[in-house]
Parts: sequence; structure tokens; C-alpha cells
Amino acid sequence: MSKSSKPRGIFASPKGMHDILPQEQIFWERIRKSVKEIAESYNFLRIDPSLLEPQALFERSLGATSDVVEKQMFSFKTRGGDELVLRPEGTAGIARSYIQHGLSQLGSPVKLYYMGPMFRYEQPQAGRFRLFYQAGFEIIGGDEDAIYDAQIILACYRMLESLKLKKLMVRINTIGCKNCRPAYRKRLVDYYKGRGGATLKEKLLCRDCQRRLSVNPLRLLDCKVPSCQELRKDAPTLLNGLCAYCKAHFKSVLEYVEELKIPYMLDNYLVRGLDYYNRIVFEIFTDAVPAVDVRKKADGVTSIKFDFALAGGGRYDYLIEMLGGRKDTPGVGGALGIERIVEVLRALGTLLPLGKTKSKVYLIHMGDLAKKKSLGLIENLREGGIEIAESLGKESLKSQLRMADRANSPMALIFGQKEALEDSIIIRDLITGAQETVPLHKAVSEVKRRL
Ligand code: HAM
Repeated sequence: MSKSSKPRGIFASPKGMHDILPQEQIFWERIRKSVKEIAESYNFLRIDPSLLEPQALFERSLGATSDVVEKQMFSFKTRGGDELVLRPEGTAGIARSYIQHGLSQLGSPVKLYYMGPMFRYEQPQAGRFRLFYQAGFEIIGGDEDAIYDAQIILACYRMLESLKLKKLMVRINTIGCKNCRPAYRKRLVDYYKGRGGATLKEKLLCRDCQRRLSVNPLRLLDCKVPSCQELRKDAPTLLNGLCAYCKAHFKSVLEYVEELKIPYMLDNYLVRGLDYYNRIVFEIFTDAVPAVDVRKKADGVTSIKFDFALAGGGRYDYLIEMLGGRKDTPGVGGALGIERIVEVLRALGTLLPLGKTKSKVYLIHMGDLAKKKSLGLIENLREGGIEIAESLGKESLKSQLRMADRANSPMALIFGQKEALEDSIIIRDLITGAQETVPLHKAVSEVKRRL
């Protein structure tokens, strides 16, 4: 190789983005299976919205001042001049699809679920990535009934439970509606601006909150900066200012959640960052791992903070109308962060051991004729319901037997030159070492009998 064509370095996946490796697939498969089972048991239909969406969709639905739209979108212009983004979440795309394809025909309400990758330009850290997977549930249309809020919380909760996650806690709040929120918003701004006898707090807020005070004051309540958290202590809460409808709705949701025996706590500071929410918002956390987990790694000790939500969601009764759909089409939904679930399961040691796959019958071939006939033979065995592992690229008996041992196969099928000529095959029990030659056409039934 000439000097100039030498590779200058190896590539790595982009910052905050990861591969799901073969050893991890078994675990992801389990999660996918759980998502499907839970969704189907509550009658949700699968939807896979587009990975790319118009940028304006998120500006209009999540809000131009939301963190996601302001700082976290992977956006680009196509050659044709369209401004697109890699979807940062699933709900807006599903609402778009609901309107575009008239999905109200499928039910009133229509219940949809999805699982797939999302993209946000975040500062990567434990539980926070730029590429992450979400599984989500949405109920759109029909009546605006509190039972649907409860069903969404239930589906998310059961999903986590099905993966053996313990000590789960739902944090829940209401952020009111367009009738009661404006008056509360004003009271909140007055509180921080020191109007009506309150002391002026605006100047003591972090820079983000100073800016949010005029554009999105509710976000001041969930700021993570300690000095802002101190300042919010005496801030007015919306609970006292809810309109009668929102009050009754909140009460009903809590009653359903209690009826379902789902552990929950009220969290006045939970507002969530997306503009499309109204009334109920919720997040699910686990206390099963300490908030900070100190781990020994090969390259030293790392501490991982587990103070993140495993799931989040809420009601979005104005979203469909905001996107040009029919007025008064209610919606409610929630989504789970799959990598965060994996992180917690890993910390708990409940991840399945790496590389442990279902053991298969191992096909060993020797000689050119056997190799040539092997592909057809594998097809016959596969069609006969036998799962086959092989290493067709290897020639020596010894190395193939070693591979069979590594794959934990209970049985090997040895297909040598003689067997290929005589249309027979040797079945060898890899535990006892006993072996027998059988006619090739009986291979499927003989293997099945022995397994
Ligand atoms: P979200 O709270 O932004 O809500 O995301 C839902 C879940 O996705 C979070 O609770 C978290 O587990 C996971 N997640 C979010 N961002 C990241 C990240 N950067 N890295 C890893 N995991 C992350 C939504 O996206 C709404 N669409 C949920 C919803 C559905 N609301 C109504 N329907």
C-alpha cells in the first residue's frame, strides 16, 4: 500500500450515537417483544412514522422556544430546498400522519404505538444521547376522557414492570388548559418580577430562566439550577387556580391511577418542555438504583447519575388543531426511553449475559462436495423447523467442532465427503459423544427426535 492510500485513522460512530451490537440484540429483542405484547394487549395499533419530518412541524407543535426546537434539532436543507429534521420525538409526526391519512377512520379514538430511533443534539451523558430509541403510545380522537390518560400511564408502567423494573414511581401534575393557564402564567411572572408585594427575583435567575420568563415562564418551575430551585419555593402553584373542568379531569385521572394501584406522587414542578401539552403531564422514575451509581471500570471509577425519567408524556388536546386538523380532537400519550431502561437494567445486573443465544444444531462439513450440498441441506433443515448454526468458511473438522462447542450446541450434524456421496449424515451428540449415521432424507425427523 502506498503511503498516501494508508488509512489515517479508524472511524467511530458520531458523538452520542451508538450501534446496537449483536451481543446486545437479544436484550433489545426482549424489549421489542414486550412493547408489542403490552401494546396489543391494550389494543394499540402499530405505526411507523417517517424518520425525517418538515422542520416547521416541530416548530409549530413543540414550540419555537422549547429546548428541543431551539437547540437540539438535526436539521438540513435538501437539494430541492426543503427544510427537514431527523425526528426528535414521535408524537408530532404521528399527529401529522393522523391528519394526512385520515386515521380517525381506524377508531374513535385511535390507539397507536411505535418504537424507533429519535435524534436530539444533546450534550451526551449517562441516559442522554443524540440517537436514542423510544417506544410510545398515543390515543387520538374520541372523547376527552380521563380514562385514556390513565390507560397511557398504565401502558408505560406495565411496560417497565414487564422488564422487571422495580420501585417505580409516577410523578404527575396538571398544567391546566387555555382557559386557566393564562391567569396562572401572569401570577407566576408577577411573582418573579416582584409585582404585587413580592420581592424581585428575576435578576437572581439563571440566564436561561431570565429569558424563559418572558417566553415560557412555566419552564422556570422545572429548572435544574439549584439557585432557581430555591427561588421557586414560594412560587404560586397552578393547583389552586385550575378551572373547574381541569380540576375534575385531574381528580378523575388520579382516581383511576389509584384504582389501578400504580404508585404516584403529585409534583407541582413538573411542566415538561414541549408546548403541545395541556392538563395532565407525567414522568416515571425508578428508585431501584441509587441516584448516583459509582462503578468500577477498566479505566478507573465512574459515577453515573440515575436521576432521569424512564418515561414521560401527557395530554395534547390542541395539537391536532395546531397542525391544521379538526378542532376539538383530543390526544394523550407517553413514551419510554429504551437506552435509559437498558442503563438501569445493566446497573441492576438484570441484563441477560452477553452473547447468550439459543443453542442450535451445528452443521459441520468436510470436502468440496459436502460444502456444495450444504446450502441446500441447511434450507431443508430450516424448513423442517431446525435451527442451524454453521461455519461454512472453515474447512477443518477440529476448528468446526471448536466453533460448535463455543456456540453451546447440543448436537452436530457431520456431513463429510463419504456422506455427501451416499446421501447420509452423521448425527453426533456433543454432550455424550455418541454418534450415528442416518439417511439424509431422515435427518429432520431424527434430529427432532433427539432434541
Ligand atoms: P420526552 O420526555 O422528551 O417526551 O421523551 C420521552 C422519554 O424518552 C424520556 O422520558 C426519556 O426516557 C427518553 N429520552 C428523551 N430524550 C432522551 C435522550 N436524549 N437520550 C436518551 N433518552 C431520552 C417525548 O418525547 C414525548 N413525545 C412523549 C409523549 C408521547 N408525549 C405524548 N405522547
